[in-house]
Parts: sequence; structure tokens; C-alpha cells
Amino acid sequence: MRNEVYMKDTKEQVLEYLENNKGRFSSGETIAGELNLSRNSVWKAIESLRRSGYQIEAASRKGYLLSNDDDNLNIAAIARLLSGNINPDLIHIYNSIESTNKTAKGAAAFDAPFGTTIISATQTAGSGRKKRSFHSPNGGIYMSMVLSPDKIPFKNHALITAYAAISVCEAIKKYSGKKPYIKWMNDIFIDGKKVCGILTESTADMDTGELSWVVVGIGINFCVNTKSFPEGAKEIAGSIFEPGKAPVSKNVMIAEIINNILTGSVIGASFDTPGSTDNDFDHSEEILKKYRAYLNMLGTEITILSQDGEYKATALDIDDNAKLIVELPSGHKKTLRSEEISIRL
Ligand code: BTN
Repeated sequence: MRNEVYMKDTKEQVLEYLENNKGRFSSGETIAGELNLSRNSVWKAIESLRRSGYQIEAASRKGYLLSNDDDNLNIAAIARLLSGNINPDLIHIYNSIESTNKTAKGAAAFDAPFGTTIISATQTAGSGRKKRSFHSPNGGIYMSMVLSPDKIPFKNHALITAYAAISVCEAIKKYSGKKPYIKWMNDIFIDGKKVCGILTESTADMDTGELSWVVVGIGINFCVNTKSFPEGAKEIAGSIFEPGKAPVSKNVMIAEIINNILTGSVIGASFDTPGSTDNDFDHSEEILKKYRAYLNMLGTEITILSQDGEYKATALDIDDNAKLIVELPSGHKKTLRSEEISIRL
């Protein structure tokens, strides 16, 4: 992992080789031969990888092995799982930064390309909705993607958060076998516990009012110990996997989420080249359909917490902008704005 833009140097090449042979020993000579490097530079790269925290075992006459338990973020491991023409150079991995959203917004302001993705192993000032903080210890996935509104496969930009939520749900379902569901608007739960939060931030052109860029920030409790979470968070937080028990690496989950978001495969779109959207094609209906299917609260009574206090209502449906339509005990129907309220199921 580095704190600079991705370039495949010797260390990365060796890491990619070990990743591709994870759990198997390869001799220094074999690695050097395959990568066209000297044995000395392989050895130096391995030492440097170890200093960066990779669990690499060495055994005489057998060589080196990247442990199956190793779950470091790794561009090579993500890159080889990316679909179509997604460019791994757009992915930037950090050990620890304040907030991936903050870094991604900075990049977006400097015209970072569509699909630029900032990932960090931990965050020191992760941000959540309504100016809350987002606890971001090791073992979680913290990633933010820069999307330009004119290049996403749907016309209704109000659906970006819903689109991200279903993209994450599909990835979680695929690799955990568990049943994620969405608590409106953008929290993902498993078995009554929140395992993921999404924070979408954007900037609009002052003159036209049109969105210039959107940053979608995704925070997932992948294999974290939620008992160590701060008061207030630990009561609702859950983790997809227990620490050390994940059957796949974070890299696999991250690659799947990037693929889902950039190719549009989860909504029936399939863009080989991310951002090459056919503007006549609109997948908004598919998003709403999938989003509805993941919302397990429709038809149930919920408690709405607003600035004016707490009240009960029945969650009826979502509208075309994925806003929640509720019915109050008086029979009056109301459409909720997620920025203003919280709900309790
Ligand atoms: C919420 O539940 O209120 C939304 C939480 C969003 C957290 C993610 S973690 C990655 C990205 N960076 C941030 O600072 N926030 C988002």
C-alpha cells in the first residue's frame, strides 16, 4: 500500500505474483524468472512488503508464500478482478486518511476521471450522514467513488444513492450468502444490525444548477469487532463477518462493488467501458425495482424522528426519486426527505 498514485513497481509485481499464488510456496528463483527480475530485487521487494504488513512466510527450499489470512488492501488483487475496461490506475489505496470522501471530493474538484476510487484501510475522521462521524477501524471497507452524472447509466440523478446501495447489497449477498436489506434511505442491514452506510456528496454548477460531480462513499463493517465501537454506534452496528472469519478478502468485495457500480450489471446495463454511457438508455426503472425489493420495510409501521419530534407512520412505497411515501395515522400521505429525518423500524 502506498500513499501515492498507482504505478506497478517491483514491489507491486512481486505482490501480484504472490496474490495469484496465495497459500502456495514459490521459490525466489521462480518468482524472479517469471517476473524477469533479479533474485536480489525479489528478496528486497518481499522484505519491503513484510515491513508494510503483508504476512509472507519463507521456508528454505520452498520459497515464499502469502498467507491465506492476509487481508491487506492490494491493488493487484483488486485489479485482476475488475470487469471490462475498468482501469486499475483509477484506484488509489491508503493506509489511513481522514476520510475517503474528503480525498475523493478533492480529486473530483480537480477533474478526477469518472470511476476514480479512493480506498483506505482505516479513516481517522470518517463522516456519516447528518454530520455524524463514522467509526472506521481496521477490518472495514472504506471507499469513495467519483462519478460524473452524465456518465451513469440512468437519467434520474436522485437515484445515485439507491443505485450504490443495491450494488453493495448484491456484492454482500454474492460473497457472504447472507440476506442484506436496505433501511431507507441508505443503510444496509443484516439480521437487524447495520453493516454498511453510504454517504453521497455532490457539487452543482452555480450557473446551470446541474450536478458537476458526485462522490459516493461506502463504509462497510466487513470483519470488525463491533464491541469496540463507541457508545451509540455499537448498539446498532453489525459486521458481515467476524474478525478473521471472512471467506473472501476485502479486495474481492471491493472489486465486486466497483464492477457493479461502473458496469451497471446489477441493473441490466453492461458497459464494457465505464463512462461510455449511451445517453438514450435509461435504467431508472430497474434501479427502483431492485431497490424496492431490498427495502424490507414497505407495508410496516415505522417511527419517524424529525426535528419536530417522533411520530409513527406506515411505510407505503417509494416514489420515482426513491423518496419514502408514508401514511400517517390520520390517513394523510407524506413523502419524506432523508436529509431531514431518521427512522426506526
Ligand atoms: C452513514 O451511515 O451515515 C453514512 C456513512 C458513510 C461512511 C463512508 S466510509 C467511506 C466514506 N468516507 C467517509 O468519510 N464516509 C463514507
